[in-house]
Amino acid sequence: MTARQQPKNLWIGRWGFVLAATGSAVGLGNIWKFPYMTGEYGGGAFVLVYLACILCIGIPAMMTEIAFGRRGRGSPIDAVKRVAQESGRGKIWSGFGWMSMLAGFMILSFYVVVAGWSLAYLWKAISGGLQGGSVDDMAAIFGANNANPLTLGAWSTLVTVVTMFIVGKGVQEGIERSMRWMMPGMVLLLLAMIVYAMFSGGFGEAVTFLFSFEVGKLSSAGLLAAMGHAFFTLSLSAGAIMAYGAYLPDNKSIARTTFTVAICDTLIALMAGLAIFPAIFANGMDPASGPGLIFMSLPLAFQQMPLGNVLQVIFFVMLSVAALTSAVSMIEATVAWLTERKGMSRKAAAWSSGIVLWLLSTLAMLSFNLGADWTLAGKNFFDWLDYLTSRWMMPLGGLGLCLMAGFLLRDEIFRDELRLSRWQHALWLLMVRYVSPLGIVLIFIDALGVMTIDIGSQWAWFLAALVVITVLGEMLSPRVRRQFTG
Ligand code: TRP
Repeated sequence: MTARQQPKNLWIGRWGFVLAATGSAVGLGNIWKFPYMTGEYGGGAFVLVYLACILCIGIPAMMTEIAFGRRGRGSPIDAVKRVAQESGRGKIWSGFGWMSMLAGFMILSFYVVVAGWSLAYLWKAISGGLQGGSVDDMAAIFGANNANPLTLGAWSTLVTVVTMFIVGKGVQEGIERSMRWMMPGMVLLLLAMIVYAMFSGGFGEAVTFLFSFEVGKLSSAGLLAAMGHAFFTLSLSAGAIMAYGAYLPDNKSIARTTFTVAICDTLIALMAGLAIFPAIFANGMDPASGPGLIFMSLPLAFQQMPLGNVLQVIFFVMLSVAALTSAVSMIEATVAWLTERKGMSRKAAAWSSGIVLWLLSTLAMLSFNLGADWTLAGKNFFDWLDYLTSRWMMPLGGLGLCLMAGFLLRDEIFRDELRLSRWQHALWLLMVRYVSPLGIVLIFIDALGVMTIDIGSQWAWFLAALVVITVLGEMLSPRVRRQFTG
């Protein structure tokens, strides 16, 4: 066994990792995507399957990623390589590290565009540009916002520059320090919105919508979306959490930090729902209005409420901060790799990756105007980035890491890092070996469209498949059984 890598950078504060990882996890996914997905897939029923996915797939996968990062003490590429080598495996396995890093970079290139919308809307909210009496007016504002490549590009460029500035300052001085005020600030703003919502009508309906569970509303599409979202919202399989895990001090418990981050992330997503839906219901709007929920329905709803302008500003400040703390995490893997392998300073690494990112994000941004019809197979550049990363690279990276940890690598490494009790470790193994992989394979089958998945009528088959695969897997490799029998 090779000696464990010595850390160079570590989080200094007691909450350093938790703050940074929660900052990464809480982002547009929580405030923009989760509410509209909940709206589309039927409210409480979706919330419930989402919680199950976080518990069974997200949390074990996150623990695995942090373990890789801390054991390998390096950028995802080096971390995966070192952990593989420690188990006597070849360098080739670092391919999963490469894919993670690339996925993070590609996600960031369209994420900055959406974060740019948020800044643009913040500016409109401050300068009174969000006026209009109907959803159509709001759609027109959204359309106009996207039609001009210069202004749209300027906003995403601003996001890129601020991100690179923070990352360039270093792990402690840049990332950890900024998280210390951005995260509490964001939560305070969110709380202020919820308190307002409690007194302004629609709150009861929002609570019912989010938490009343109707079996009839469960759908396979909802389940698949929930599985994919569990990865996205916890920032998994894109190098971010692994890169942050590399700075986690040895004495911290990976399981405890993972649960803390996952719980905070989930609470903030639900809180975002409680901040957004009351306004929607109070104004008699449709909660299932899709991606336009935040940029069209919500501004319209706010206008019709007392202090609406203030609320609007608060909301878009919060959204922008949430997006920024996530953006920072997506580039950390690349910057860490450039400093380790290419001997660059943090600043040089941040700005040079920033330039490449800017070029890519400009192409993504142009998908909304000049490049709207630069399409391939019906998808523009922005859609391709989203599709490739969320449907393929992230699931594939997640699958690879789970299977590596579950079957290929030495179990002692994970015992050392995770320090779970016997039962807990067995449960973790069960998840990373069978439950997560099966879930991910379902996402693939769905993406390929080779088979229609209808969990409602086929659930017994899936359960049977899971049991058969688990039994077969364990017969071929007795590791889990040994744990149960001592
Ligand atoms: N988790 C963030 C969100 O919910 C997005 C995000 C940040 C992310 N870093 C990531 C997604 C890395 C995938 C990979 O908005």
